[in-house]
Amino acid sequence: MRRSVISPSRIGGTLAPPGDKSISHRSTILNAVAEGEALVTNYSPGGDCESTLRCLRSLGVPIRRMDQEGSLVLQGVGLDGFREPDNVLNAGNSGTTMRLLSGLLAGQPFLSIVTGDGSLRSRPMDRIIKPLRQMGARIQGRDGDSKAPLVIRGGGLRGIEYTLPVASAQLKSCLVIAALFAEGETTLHQPAASRDHTELMLQQMGATLVEDGLTVKVKPGQRLRTINVNIPADISSAAYWLVAGVCHPRARVTVTNVGINPTRAGIIDALLSMGARLTITNRRSEGGEEVADITAESSDLTGTEVAGDLIPRLLDEAPVLALAACFARGVTVFRDAQELRVKESDRIKTTVQELSRLGADIQELPDGMEIRGTGGLKGAVGQSHNDHRLAMTLGVAGLLARGETEVRGAEIASISYPGFWEDLDKLAGSG
Ligand code: S3P
Repeated sequence: MRRSVISPSRIGGTLAPPGDKSISHRSTILNAVAEGEALVTNYSPGGDCESTLRCLRSLGVPIRRMDQEGSLVLQGVGLDGFREPDNVLNAGNSGTTMRLLSGLLAGQPFLSIVTGDGSLRSRPMDRIIKPLRQMGARIQGRDGDSKAPLVIRGGGLRGIEYTLPVASAQLKSCLVIAALFAEGETTLHQPAASRDHTELMLQQMGATLVEDGLTVKVKPGQRLRTINVNIPADISSAAYWLVAGVCHPRARVTVTNVGINPTRAGIIDALLSMGARLTITNRRSEGGEEVADITAESSDLTGTEVAGDLIPRLLDEAPVLALAACFARGVTVFRDAQELRVKESDRIKTTVQELSRLGADIQELPDGMEIRGTGGLKGAVGQSHNDHRLAMTLGVAGLLARGETEVRGAEIASISYPGFWEDLDKLAGSG
C-alpha cells in the first residue's frame, strides 16, 4: 500500500493512541502462567500482539475477545497447565513474542518449534539461546544456534546468575519468565535499565521478584494470581504525534492516557532537552504504571546528544527523534545505539537512507547517526523497508515536509498501530 501525505497548514487535535504493545504482550503471557481469570482492556490491536494471542491459544490458553475495543478474558493455566502445540508456533514479525515465549517454553516438558517472518528469522536469538541452555533447556536454532526457527525441548531448569550482554528487555523478560519454572534463584545483572513492565506486573501477581539497582532476582515455584490489566496508550505510538506537534510551525496536539513509565519515557526527556514545548497533565498511576496526557506545541528545537543510558529508554523512538532533529538548530548525535541495527530493519541504515531522500543532512555512524538540522525537508518517495516504525516516521515526515511525500509499504504500520493513517488524517484535517 502507498500513502501520500501533504503537509497541512496547521496540525491540531486530541488522539488516543493504541494500547501499549509491550504491556499488552506481558498482560497475556504472564496472566497465562498465573492462576485464575483475567480481564485485559485496551489490548493492542496491532499484528504483533495478535501473534502472541495466536501462540498462547496453540499452547492451550483459553482467550476470548469481548469486543472490538481490545477487551479480552483469559484463563490462566498456571505454571504446569500448558499443552504441547500440535504445530509450529508463528511469532510473525514480533521479537517480543518470540523471546518472551521462548522463556516460557524453556520451562515446559515438551517440544516446541517457534518461527517468524523473514525479518524476525534474521534477528539475533543467540542472546536467549545461550543463557536458556545454561539454565538447562535444550534449545537449538538455525545458523549456528543464532537464529529462528528455534527448536525447544524444555523442562528441568535451574536458576543461574547471569550478566546480560545488552540492555534488552526482551532478553531480561525471557530469562525472568524461565526463572519462574526453575529450581533455585535466578539473578540477572543488566548493563543499563531497560523497560521493567515484566517486573512490575509479576510483582502484582505475587511473584517474589526483587529489583535492586540494575539487578533482578527471581525466586521460582510461586503460584501466581492473575490480575486485571487496563493497558495505557503506547508512548512509542504517541511519539509520532509529539514530534509532529513540536516540529510543525502551527500545531497543538494532545495524546491521552499515555504510559510514561520512566524506563520508557526517554523520548519526553530528549525532546525537552531540545527545547520542545511539552505539557504533561493528569498524571496518575494505574496498575503500577505511570500514565498521563501530553500536549505538544510548535517549538524552536536545538540539537542534542542521545547516548548511554538514554538509548534503551527511547529505543523504538530513535527514527522519529532523528526526524525531529532535522528541524532543530545545530547537530544531534545518537551514540551507543548499535541495538538499532537488529530491529525489524537495520534502523540506523534505513533511517539515514529514508531521511536522506527527503533532503536531510544525516550521516550513519557505526553505533548511531549524526544529523545537522536544516530547518526543513522536501517531499519525496520513501520506503518502509517493511518496518512499522519507518513507515510511521515517513508519514510524520510527510506532515512536515514541503510538497508531497509518498510512503511505500505503508500498511506495515498495522504491526503496532492499525489506525495510524486515519489518525494522521484526523490531525491534518484541521489544517
Ligand atoms: C521490547 C523491548 C525492546 C523494544 C521492542 C519491545 C519489549 O527490544 O525495541 O520493541 O517489549 O520488551 P529489545 O529488548 O530487543 O531491546
